[in-house]
Amino acid sequence: MKKLWGGRFTKSAEEWVDEFGASISFDQELVLEDIDGSIAHVAMLSETGILTLEEAEKIKAGLLILKEKAEKEELEFSVKLEDIHLNLESQLTELIGPVGGKLHTGRSRNDQVATDMHLYLRKQVQSIISLLEELQGALLEKAEANIETIMPGYTHLQRAQPISFAHHLMAYFWMFERDKARYKENLSRVNVSPLGAGALAGTTFPIDRYKTAELLEFGSIYENSMDAVSDRDFILEFLSTSSILMMHLSRFSEEIILWSSQEFKFIELDDSFSTGSSIMPQKKNPDMAELIRGKTGRVYGNLMGLLTVLKGLPLAYNKDMQEDKEGMFDTVKTVVGSLKIFAGMVQTMKVQTDTMEQATKNDFSNATELADYLSDKGMPFREAHEVVGKLVLHCVQKQCFLADLPLEELQAASTLFEGDIYEVLNPRTAVQRRNSAGGTGFLQVEQAIQKAKKCLEPL
Ligand code: ARG
Repeated sequence: MKKLWGGRFTKSAEEWVDEFGASISFDQELVLEDIDGSIAHVAMLSETGILTLEEAEKIKAGLLILKEKAEKEELEFSVKLEDIHLNLESQLTELIGPVGGKLHTGRSRNDQVATDMHLYLRKQVQSIISLLEELQGALLEKAEANIETIMPGYTHLQRAQPISFAHHLMAYFWMFERDKARYKENLSRVNVSPLGAGALAGTTFPIDRYKTAELLEFGSIYENSMDAVSDRDFILEFLSTSSILMMHLSRFSEEIILWSSQEFKFIELDDSFSTGSSIMPQKKNPDMAELIRGKTGRVYGNLMGLLTVLKGLPLAYNKDMQEDKEGMFDTVKTVVGSLKIFAGMVQTMKVQTDTMEQATKNDFSNATELADYLSDKGMPFREAHEVVGKLVLHCVQKQCFLADLPLEELQAASTLFEGDIYEVLNPRTAVQRRNSAGGTGFLQVEQAIQKAKKCLEPL
């Protein structure tokens, strides 16, 4: 097969060398973006008079045929034609004759591939933002149903203070809200047109870069042609934003895995999001959560991979940059899949409210209440901490909990204790009273949920 750039060559590479250099096995993912970019480019070439109307119409008609075929996945690609750009150009010329060769006027594969990547990522980031909102919606729903479900809150994975389960879920809501903001910020740099930068230096043809940008609905154009073809920051931002999102999903996965264990029994995952064991009949495994935790690693890897590819590259385009694609495609697939699974998992999980509440009773997670009670009555908090610490030790020795101590024993530790202390020690009261802004008090959580709902309302 004749190379589209073969003029200068006297000898062709062997097939296995061609194969090594080719990207068609993966960049065919960009087929629709590539065609759309070409349609805009040819429209501009005709408007500026660089091509005649007739030539442009022929090319456009050919591109539309290719687009229809691409949508039906009927196009066949050849590894000999290296990449999606050369494959499409060659098919176009086959379809409409030599005039197809005019499409590439005033354009290079370097600005073409960058354009494809921008178009592709714009679409994907937009759909990731919607999926994030779906997951946030699922969280809101679960939270709303569990405002008064209490559970132990942990630090160091040791029971710390009782909290509302809704408050715990809403912590993730706000993480995802930040992820969304990062993707939106990313979009502002994804939505910039490199088209018309040429190979690196612009072109002698009187092209109109604003026109193609407008046709492709880009918000602006790259100011510098060399930057336009060398920049992959927008992909790095996507990968780093996705890494942070995956880190959030991974932490959440870890909690879901813990909570669904026999040791915790705080939730039960729906059968549709769990798997069994081929040997142990009793098993119900949280595979999906584990897999998301595991897949976080590949997204981090994709970020490190591209950072490393780019770090030593001189301007402008270098073939190394062909390595920007697979990690990006893989990340899109991983993030989209993980978000969909997560929303379903949250929606269908069963909350074991009794076990959760029970877990707040048989421990010392109400010790802070006791210290706060004393300092509320005037004792310096540090001193109150010491008094309560001693009481905890006393309980450990007596093998009981704070609420089991008779009033006389409490009063022996401090005369400030009165009969109302037992209500204060009730974990439910402890949660309810934490009404500082952003705290776990039921009222605060209710307000936070109302506020959160506004984040999901279309602007
Ligand atoms: N397949 C190439 C890539 O993905 C397209 C750009 C090729 N440009 C070039 N001058 N070789 O980066």
